[in-house]
Amino acid sequence: MSSETIYRAIAIDGPAASGKSTVAKQLAKQLGLIMVNSGAMYRAIAWKVKQEGIDPQKNTLVEASLEKWDLSCEVVDGASVILVNGVNPGDALREKEVNAIVSTIAAIPKVRDCLLSKQREFLHIGDLVMEGRDIGTVIFPNTPYKFFITASEKVRASRRSAEGLTDQVAERDRQDSQRKTAPLRAAEDAVVIDSSEMTISEVVDTVKAKLKERGWEQR
Ligand code: DC
Repeated sequence: MSSETIYRAIAIDGPAASGKSTVAKQLAKQLGLIMVNSGAMYRAIAWKVKQEGIDPQKNTLVEASLEKWDLSCEVVDGASVILVNGVNPGDALREKEVNAIVSTIAAIPKVRDCLLSKQREFLHIGDLVMEGRDIGTVIFPNTPYKFFITASEKVRASRRSAEGLTDQVAERDRQDSQRKTAPLRAAEDAVVIDSSEMTISEVVDTVKAKLKERGWEQR
């Protein structure tokens, strides 16, 4: 038997609060896929940096600590979970202190390297949908199933405040798009969907129709 992975990855990228997480969750449920939230992994590192009182601007300090921490990923109830030294940060991942530093942490090349291999390992477990910023460009560049979900800045900011969360989405997007390593951008072969005027189920239906066009068959 070939040792090559037989599983498939659907990549969903896009800016903060574009609706990509909700779309990915629904898609995972409807198609029976593992749902992987890659942003949660960057958030987990940012959370630990904050907890340990490390200056997020000091790359070398963050890198040295990263080597000491045990980061492990699991699938629980069909979705990815990341543990830092055995602890699942849970709701703390969405705290405003984490929002404030996560883009700085995500711009550190060693942080990205470390998470790249962990993200690719999920493909040994089963078919998956992974959402993030560089999934179609860097993590799974060979998958034909790539989507870039966006929405106007105004719509995204109001979606975040409707969730009761404090998040400078425009500033995070600026940092995420301008960093040198794996910046936020649509892969050339991604299907771009502007969700500003669409409901979640309309976006999910559009994704499913495009998957079919690109040869996806339900197994
Ligand atoms: O999807 P999110 O808002 O939870 O992501 C948090 C941050 O993590 C985001 O501002 C940038 C970073 N990120 C990244 O650089 N690459 C990814 N694949 C996912 C997230």
